[in-house]
Amino acid sequence: MAPAKRLLIVHHTQSGNTGMLAEAVLRGAGRVDGVDTRLMRAFDAGTDDLLACDGLLLGTPENFGTMSGALKDFFDRTYYPCEGKLVGLPYAVFVSAGNDGTGAVREIGRIANGYGWKQVAEALIARKEITAGHLSAAEELGEAMASGLAMGIF
Ligand SMILES: Cc1cc2nc3c(=O)[nH]c(=O)nc-3n(C[C@H](O)[C@H](O)[C@H](O)COP(=O)(O)O)c2cc1C
Repeated sequence: MAPAKRLLIVHHTQSGNTGMLAEAVLRGAGRVDGVDTRLMRAFDAGTDDLLACDGLLLGTPENFGTMSGALKDFFDRTYYPCEGKLVGLPYAVFVSAGNDGTGAVREIGRIANGYGWKQVAEALIARKEITAGHLSAAEELGEAMASGLAMGIF
């Protein structure tokens, strides 16, 4: 049997909203057989975790028009050790924002291009308080990502 694909969810949350999305993404991914999904806080995740994954989901609040400092710190710590080693890694993004979220998505996209990653799903932006609709969209994102990995689509 082929080894399970590994999906890594790296996220930061300050007041819990992105955390709720991350848990929902994890639930959705858990519906798919043959994928090991790991949910980590950005401050706890590092180069080894990144190099070991087959797919990546990144979650952050939008802070001051961009990603949280914690997610930026994750990129700052892992960029050089991973440079050139993760080209084509499938990834997607989910963002919790007060009223925008596009700045965080844009800046993550620029950084992801630097790593050579491939965006495989449209970014999920949950504005204002987290709703049931946001949670179900996050579950769908996790499930779609895990399905794509399990089926070898990406
Ligand atoms: C310091 C700070 C800066 C923020 N900047 C933005 C922003 O630029 N755009 C936006 O839409 N929301 C902004 N917000 C609102 C947060 O993105 C929003 O409350 C989000 O749901 C927080 O996610 P969390 O609960 O996962 O920490 C900001 C919040 C804080 C605390």
